[in-house]
Amino acid sequence: MITLPGKAASFWIDSTPEANSSPFVDNVLVDVAIVGAGIAGLTAATLLKRAGKTVAVIESRRTAIGVSGHTTAKITSLHQLIYADLIKELGEAKARIYGESNQAAIEQLAKLVNEEQIDCDFSRQSTYTFAESAANLDKIKAEAEAAIKLGLPASFVTEASLPFPIVGAVRFDNQAQFHSRKYLLHLANNIPGEGSYLFEETRVEGVDEGEPCSVKTNKGLVKAKDVVVTTNLPILDQGLFFAKAYPKRSYIIGARIEPSQAPQGMFIGVGENYRSIRTTPYEGGLLLLIGGEGHKTGSVDDTEERFLRLEEYARSRFGVDKFEYHWSTQDMVSFDKLPYIGKLTPLNNHTYVATGFSLWGMSNGTLSGMILSDMILGIENPWAELYDATRATPFVSSTSLKENTDVAKHWVGDRLKGLTNSLSEVVNGEGKLVTVGAQKVAAYRDQHGEMHAVSAVCSHLGCIVDWNQAEKSWDCPCHGARYTYDGEVIHGPAVKDLDKVQ
Ligand code: FES
Repeated sequence: MITLPGKAASFWIDSTPEANSSPFVDNVLVDVAIVGAGIAGLTAATLLKRAGKTVAVIESRRTAIGVSGHTTAKITSLHQLIYADLIKELGEAKARIYGESNQAAIEQLAKLVNEEQIDCDFSRQSTYTFAESAANLDKIKAEAEAAIKLGLPASFVTEASLPFPIVGAVRFDNQAQFHSRKYLLHLANNIPGEGSYLFEETRVEGVDEGEPCSVKTNKGLVKAKDVVVTTNLPILDQGLFFAKAYPKRSYIIGARIEPSQAPQGMFIGVGENYRSIRTTPYEGGLLLLIGGEGHKTGSVDDTEERFLRLEEYARSRFGVDKFEYHWSTQDMVSFDKLPYIGKLTPLNNHTYVATGFSLWGMSNGTLSGMILSDMILGIENPWAELYDATRATPFVSSTSLKENTDVAKHWVGDRLKGLTNSLSEVVNGEGKLVTVGAQKVAAYRDQHGEMHAVSAVCSHLGCIVDWNQAEKSWDCPCHGARYTYDGEVIHGPAVKDLDKVQ
């Protein structure tokens, strides 16, 4: 059995309590129902409540334990390498709006921290995208040049406080980092009261737009004038967002580091095996967080080895050996690099979505909350047009064609791929796809030898799920739905559990 570094939990979640949620109120009427208690939903809820609206935040599990609880929690407008590409693909004006709006998101978040004195380890930091080899130096220089041209707080540097040589880096000053869940719990705990609610462990199963809209949950009905869906990938399929973005998983480990050995700032590399690096306060010292090893959801079998490679990197590059945590996360990567923020479809007047944060959810999620709350409040937002969720999408770009062809291949091919016919081939601690009669079964045998068998057919649109050994989960390679080993949904767009198999 492989031993993974540290506890299998997100530090952000492990170090925080639960939110103070409200008992469910059937048939309640609010101004805005918000589906999903992550950073986008809670920012929108906070800004709307501050503006005098009543809100109901509805979360299928617990507050901020999804993507926002598994992030690296960097708040920055330096999104690895993006500005040179945006200028080339969309033009300087749109690239400028991307930078300006993400900078505004940092300041919005900082303003909330300051005004409400939120104890969330918020600190201003410089952030760096660095290259270790000359082969990537031109890209770094081009990015620095593009960002400077767009008026961002950028410079090209040849030194950073990393304990290994770099050939160059783009540096953005006055960015920030924080403890994402401490921040989000503060926002969440301010929601209940004055006609507003935070409903946890309440699964939304569908939304009917109307006057008012009806939000159907497993506990009853919530009625609202407007509905905001911030569930990573929208649980509503009408906007076809599952065909405009693809799910990507990535991995993080946390190890104790001597403050005198710790790098100053936040870092991300470039190239195939890039790493994301930062530190965070931990038990009077510091925890070094190393992220990376990303891949499309459900596309690899070596999920455990990915943590081991991060562990080896941390040992060899930073000399650390006290590992405290390992966890993984997943986000939707937008085909045109821009998040989708706005109306669900051109026909919807009261249903809004935000998705496609492309691994930069702290700034893009905050920005989504700002734009969506402005739209609902009837305030003109200078950035809304760029991110319009109904914009013409690059269905025919080479990336989107490849990803959507991959989905089609999974839908057909995974039904035919080599499955075992015998449950006895599934050993303790392992999951496997098994053919039982005409049925595809996702079978997991736990450490005690007990079998947990569920249908392998994803409840979203019917692809065949894949086993994720590191997380002991069933992951759908098509649009990223994830289920526990016994079939409970832990990540949308699916809203129904996998059927149990006797
Ligand atoms: Fe869409 Fe599984 S997530 S088919």
